[in-house]
Amino acid sequence: MSRFWNPLVHILKPYVAGEQPVLADLVKLNTNENPYGPSPRALAAIADQLGDGLRLYPDPHCGALRAAIGARHGVDADQIFVGNGSDEVLGHTFLALLKHDRPLLFPDVTYSFYPVYCGLYGIEYREVPLDAAMGIDIADYRQPCDAIILANPNAPTGRALPLDAVAALAGEHPDQVVVIDEAYVDFGGDSAIPLVARFPNLLVVQTFSKSRSLAGMRVGFAIGQRPLIDALERVKDSFNSYPLDRLAQAAATAAFLDWDWFDDTRRRVVASRERLNAALDALGFEVLPSAANFVFARHPAHSGADLAAGLRRQSVIVRHFPKERIKDYLRITVGTDAQCDRLLAALRGLVG
Ligand SMILES: Cc1ncc(COP(=O)(O)O)c(C=O)c1O
Repeated sequence: MSRFWNPLVHILKPYVAGEQPVLADLVKLNTNENPYGPSPRALAAIADQLGDGLRLYPDPHCGALRAAIGARHGVDADQIFVGNGSDEVLGHTFLALLKHDRPLLFPDVTYSFYPVYCGLYGIEYREVPLDAAMGIDIADYRQPCDAIILANPNAPTGRALPLDAVAALAGEHPDQVVVIDEAYVDFGGDSAIPLVARFPNLLVVQTFSKSRSLAGMRVGFAIGQRPLIDALERVKDSFNSYPLDRLAQAAATAAFLDWDWFDDTRRRVVASRERLNAALDALGFEVLPSAANFVFARHPAHSGADLAAGLRRQSVIVRHFPKERIKDYLRITVGTDAQCDRLLAALRGLVG
């Protein structure tokens, strides 16, 4: 607290990021990073940038990266917005597109940054309860609102909505912006990018942090029709014209073009997820069906807080959210099989 603060700063409730401890022998399964390193082509592209060129500002329009994304998804580069992590893309989206007279809707259990952006930008919102199976029912969104945002697959549940449900949602709300946050889509969801041509109200957001293993580079993007992208560009250019440095642009472009690396690593993550699911099930956990690179699980006989603390004592960290509806769940990032085995051995000691 300080008398020098803007009054808004006093009432902000900032997001609490997953911790990044540096400890020997740590099994870090708390922030949904990819257990495999980035594409070697991304590392080579970074090395190429290390020279006199760093004197110069980067391309403010991220032209090469947008061209690569556009070619793959069959959209014009001017329908793509790139930002410093999808968090920044989402932040600009909340400011540019989600503040209106009636509330913004999102699930009661979802990415906990959404209410934080609402606090920062003074956006009224309403949380729509997930159904009993922790899924999203689009019928629940038939209520007065001016915008909707869903994570698909949802976080931290991992559950995915099929594409026809996303299309129905966008079609039922033609006068509302519908944002689909696809941070985890490459691990088992269906992307809504092919729907963008049909729905002028649809914005799809993705990240390089998970399936491209570039969380440390901070790169995300949005795809939508031109008026939505124009709004994001207007906000960006009123805030920071050069959000992506030269290393990030080069690494992300090279990583995006390395489809063999992408397919190989995501297949390995999905295989480890299924193996982890089966092992957790055998330990008596209830595991929600996950289309992401994490699982959300609870044990009927142990509290989530106790399990998270017990794992931490054994140098295994997972994410636990002390929120009423999900307080007994653990969100466990899918690591390598060896990391998952360390987790399972620790859990066996706690629940066995
Ligand atoms: C649902 C969801 N959206 C967006 C993000 C932000 O990703 P980044 O800013 O690393 O692109 C995350 C991060 O974990 C997430 O879980």
